[in-house]
Amino acid sequence: MTESTRTYRWAERAMTTVASAMPGSVKSNAIQLGGGYGFPDELPDIVAEAIAAATDRAEGLQYGPLYGLDDLRDEIVRYLQQDGVAATRDNILVVNGAKHGLDLACRVFLEKGDAVIVTAPTYLTAASILKAAEATFMSIAQDESGIDTEELEQKLAARKASGDPIPKMLFDVPDFHNPTGITTSVERRKRLVELAEQFGFIIIEDDPYRRIRFEGEPVPPIKSFDTTGCVIGLGTVSKILAPGLRIGWVNASPEIVRRMAAHKSDHGTCPLLQRIVTQLFQNGKVDHHIASLSKVLRGHRDAMVKAIHRHLPGATVRVPHGGYFLWVELPEGVNADELVKRAAKAGVAIFSGTLSFAEAAPTNFLRLAYSYSPPEKITRGVELVGKVYGQLLAEAGLAAAPSTHRVA
Ligand SMILES: Cc1ncc(COP(=O)(O)O)c(C=O)c1O
Repeated sequence: MTESTRTYRWAERAMTTVASAMPGSVKSNAIQLGGGYGFPDELPDIVAEAIAAATDRAEGLQYGPLYGLDDLRDEIVRYLQQDGVAATRDNILVVNGAKHGLDLACRVFLEKGDAVIVTAPTYLTAASILKAAEATFMSIAQDESGIDTEELEQKLAARKASGDPIPKMLFDVPDFHNPTGITTSVERRKRLVELAEQFGFIIIEDDPYRRIRFEGEPVPPIKSFDTTGCVIGLGTVSKILAPGLRIGWVNASPEIVRRMAAHKSDHGTCPLLQRIVTQLFQNGKVDHHIASLSKVLRGHRDAMVKAIHRHLPGATVRVPHGGYFLWVELPEGVNADELVKRAAKAGVAIFSGTLSFAEAAPTNFLRLAYSYSPPEKITRGVELVGKVYGQLLAEAGLAAAPSTHRVA
């Protein structure tokens, strides 16, 4: 027997997890319009903070406190309070990114087969994490105001009437949703909290893009309407500073925080990185960086929208007021999986929308990220995608129509 011929006795959950869509490394020659990577030119300079953090070896190089450094938890509290969320240090658990927070929520809430409410489409990695937790799904449509709370209410009421179990958890990205870019209206946010109270489920509010706003007024977080502990907020510095730092947080009732902390198998997020991030909050660099990044990414978004109009005739794109992604609807009959394969051969990495559905997926959507590549590369990348798209249109016998866009 060799490594390649060996058959392993896998756990069932290892078989159900969908393969991660992320390429091994962003440093390939392809034009990267797929993953939500940080824009290299805007990654923050953290040398001074890193040197200062490394100087305190007793803190930085020991196991960190299980819940996170108190100084960082206090900075996170301040950051949340700016958005109208009432939190104290006891509500905050520092984790290795928002995805880690979701993973911990699954550990403490989900049994095999428990149902989770998700939008259709949803954040693709969240779908993977939930599948790894052996969850089942209740998929709910979105419109321009966010998750369709009427459909949700009807489905929940039907389950209740038939005696079927009510989902334990709802997962949503209310600000600049990944992948659709939609921001949930204030009415829908309040309604979600009412439904959570009425039917007894937990809301996971995953909010990495909230501060990356290009225009328009912010809407209060769902967590700001929670008075009974039914909302778990997930935050991260991945989209406002750098994803490689792997620092995120959970904002939840102290009881949830305690139970999640007990399931944190790392026994404490890296204290060196926590201290660096604490200083970046304390010296105002986080706010400064968000302002500068938002300005730059607005230019990226505009370049991508323009290129789509030019090179993807017949496609429909929603123009979000912030975030990292565009969600593109192709004419029916154009297969996004095939388009992604051909685009890769032409030197452009893009994601098929099929990855973003927890259940049955339509095959004519693309998720494009404008975060990583500069405007020239975005324009060139979309032009190359446009060439293979033209082939697929012709093969499907579809005529090119002008592209349209909607403003979210
Ligand atoms: C909706 C959503 N949540 C969370 C994250 C980031 O998670 P993390 O903090 O683990 O890097 C992303 C990144 O793509 C995302 O789109």
